[in-house]
Amino acid sequence: MNKIDYSQLIPNNVNLSDDRRLQRALEKWQPAYIDWWNEMGPNDTSDYEVYLRTAIDVGADGWAHFDMVKMPEYRWGIFLAENEQDREVNFGSHKGEAAWQVVPGEYRAELRRLIVTQGDTEPASVEQQRALGRTCPSLYDLRNLFQVNVEEGRHLWAMVYLLHAYFGRDGREEADEMLKRHAGGVDKPRILEAFNVDTVDWLSFYLFTYFQDRDGKYQLASLAESGFDPLSRSCRFMLTEEAHHMFVGETGVSRVVQRSAELIKEHDTMDIRQYGGIDLATLQKYVNYHFSICLDLFGQEKSTNAANFYSMGLKGRYLETKIDDDHLLGNDVYMVPEVQDGKIIKVEMPALTAINERLRDDYAEDCQRGVDRWNKTLVNAGVNFKITLPNSAFNRNIGNFVGIKATPDGQVISEEKWNANVDNWLPNDEDRAFIQTLMVPVTEPDKMASWVAQPAKGIHGQATDFEYVKFH
Ligand SMILES: [Fe+2]
Ligand SMILES: [Fe+2]
Repeated sequence: MNKIDYSQLIPNNVNLSDDRRLQRALEKWQPAYIDWWNEMGPNDTSDYEVYLRTAIDVGADGWAHFDMVKMPEYRWGIFLAENEQDREVNFGSHKGEAAWQVVPGEYRAELRRLIVTQGDTEPASVEQQRALGRTCPSLYDLRNLFQVNVEEGRHLWAMVYLLHAYFGRDGREEADEMLKRHAGGVDKPRILEAFNVDTVDWLSFYLFTYFQDRDGKYQLASLAESGFDPLSRSCRFMLTEEAHHMFVGETGVSRVVQRSAELIKEHDTMDIRQYGGIDLATLQKYVNYHFSICLDLFGQEKSTNAANFYSMGLKGRYLETKIDDDHLLGNDVYMVPEVQDGKIIKVEMPALTAINERLRDDYAEDCQRGVDRWNKTLVNAGVNFKITLPNSAFNRNIGNFVGIKATPDGQVISEEKWNANVDNWLPNDEDRAFIQTLMVPVTEPDKMASWVAQPAKGIHGQATDFEYVKFH
């Protein structure tokens, strides 16, 4: 059952045709999805042909097929990772029981909430990024944007399938709501704050795919540990797609760093805006912004919801089964930051209620790895600048640091001092306006915008100057 059946209206590897009721319900949702895509998805793409990958098999090797695809003809479907024989619930009070193939009645509301929250982020990011195609720095980048967009659309399909298949009428209603909430919507915004801000320039897009898709990775990885097996299998396959999104982010920023370093050396100044480059101080501000808003996505440091999800066996820790402890966390503790007497200190908390904080720490550690690689590029180029991630107290709107003003290196400061310095730490209107001036579309196959270096290699063995997108 690894192969995906493309002969059906909704390609799938879940034997959808065996369940006529479910099939009919999803076939009813599909036109609404297509309407949403046409209205809220990437602008102007109805005549585009794009070099896209499509999943044809969910096995570990060779699941993707690459070809020129007419954007409106992209086939979204329902793909679950392979069934793991004799899988068990691996943590919480049901540890050791067989993994659930149906929703445990007592956890129905909690599971639905987890699936809805995850599902809501997927179409949100498509909406946030919808105008970027008009200012692409190259065809290579444009293709990557659309690849990310269609896969986020498919991630919505993955969550909608679970809602339809396992949650009856309220699941179907939640699936409809997914297409009614919109990023930045006045009446019906997306559920999480970081998914309500438009991604208006490509520097932001690279940072979004580096930081925010990585939040996605950590959320999906924790849900992939779920005792509810269909959720686990959905998330496991989504993770394989997510890797490319983070690749787009990491290499995108890396190409900005490389180009900036070239301009700094060439003109012997850090002030490279006048030469069409992004100065590193501005890049740092964008890093500060995106990292800090993504830390909020992990929720409160102390969370009884997260503790409950864990004890119920619904959402685990990152790489749960590789952690060497009892997977119950009844007596364990975890260190959590908070402010005491104007200083940020770490205090002990029951590990169970600190599940969010642990995931946030795992995430931050992962974020640092790419930053280290960007810094290596600067060292190799002989540029004296180090990109850093801000302290977790910096610019936070959820949790222990709400209402606290802190510097990027973690000094608690007064409101006055914050106001006097915030322009050095976060992008201001002038920075954003400057970045916007660089957003001039480049659509010849062998050209690249002034502010970003060529990619090291093309997609799937193609040349970097391959015509990744054809406009008709
Ligand atoms: Fe996604
Ligand atoms: Fe993603």
